[in-house]
Amino acid sequence: MLASLRNVSKVFTDPRNGRGLVALNGIDLDVKEGEFLCLIGSSGCGKSTTLNLLAGFESPTRGDVLFKGKKVIGPSPERGVVFQEPSLYPWMSVLQNVMFSVQEKNGRESLAMEYLKMVGLDGFANSRPSDLSGGMKQRVAIARALAMGPDLLLMDEPFGSLDEQTRRKLDNDVLRLWKEGSKTVVFVTHNIDEALMLGTRVVLMSASPGRIEREWVLDADWPRDLSSPSMMSLREEIIGMLQACACANGAAPVQLLTIGD
Ligand SMILES: Nc1ncnc2c1ncn2[C@@H]1O[C@H](COP(=O)(O)OP(=O)(O)O)[C@@H](O)[C@H]1O
Ligand SMILES: [Mg+2]
Repeated sequence: MLASLRNVSKVFTDPRNGRGLVALNGIDLDVKEGEFLCLIGSSGCGKSTTLNLLAGFESPTRGDVLFKGKKVIGPSPERGVVFQEPSLYPWMSVLQNVMFSVQEKNGRESLAMEYLKMVGLDGFANSRPSDLSGGMKQRVAIARALAMGPDLLLMDEPFGSLDEQTRRKLDNDVLRLWKEGSKTVVFVTHNIDEALMLGTRVVLMSASPGRIEREWVLDADWPRDLSSPSMMSLREEIIGMLQACACANGAAPVQLLTIGD
């Protein structure tokens, strides 16, 4: 297993009243090598917390977060992260932004150019981030994450603030990079269609406290036709589960369902 959360709970202090806020309650999640895992769920159900634990930005209150069998104790270039907001260094050129993440000592510039080529931005190497559109900035952020040479790419609603057309284009780019680089991806989205377009597995989380509700393995080839009967019915099923989770909010935890139930 590439990465695992074993009975992980995460408790934050609620800034509103200083009390403990259970963001995750006893989560078990295995990330298999080579998979494209999409994490979905309503806002506040703990998707980002899960991703940040895998990244090493947060540590669990209880339980273990493992990567390649070892406990995660902080961020590492082995685990590249792409956030919703690209957070590029504004004073650096596009190329310098990517070079900054290249781990190799030699040939950093040509390696950075290769990553820029992969995301179709080699023609913008000398531009400043402020000269780029939102979608282009996000592509630089992807190149930067890839330049770290990660074994696991963690993406937190990376295209959530982009228009639909740009999002689709970037979804296809990520899919291509995943296939070409045989990486493992954990991709957080609250867009069900995006998860159905991309994932080899879709994991649904639910809130209060955050837990894993259900998962689906998707074996359809790409490009996927979301209007096919099987995709439509899967979509309906996920929407139904999401609504049921929302209704159960605050109630006793729903029994964990597994594939085939
Ligand atoms: N640093 C933090 N301090 C306090 N509460 C937090 C912190 N980070 C997240 N939370 C809370 O934990 C819960 C899960 O948050 P998050 O993982 O961001 O959810 P999601 O990404 O699914 O929207 C929410 O109730 C959120 O308010
Ligand atoms: Mg989030």
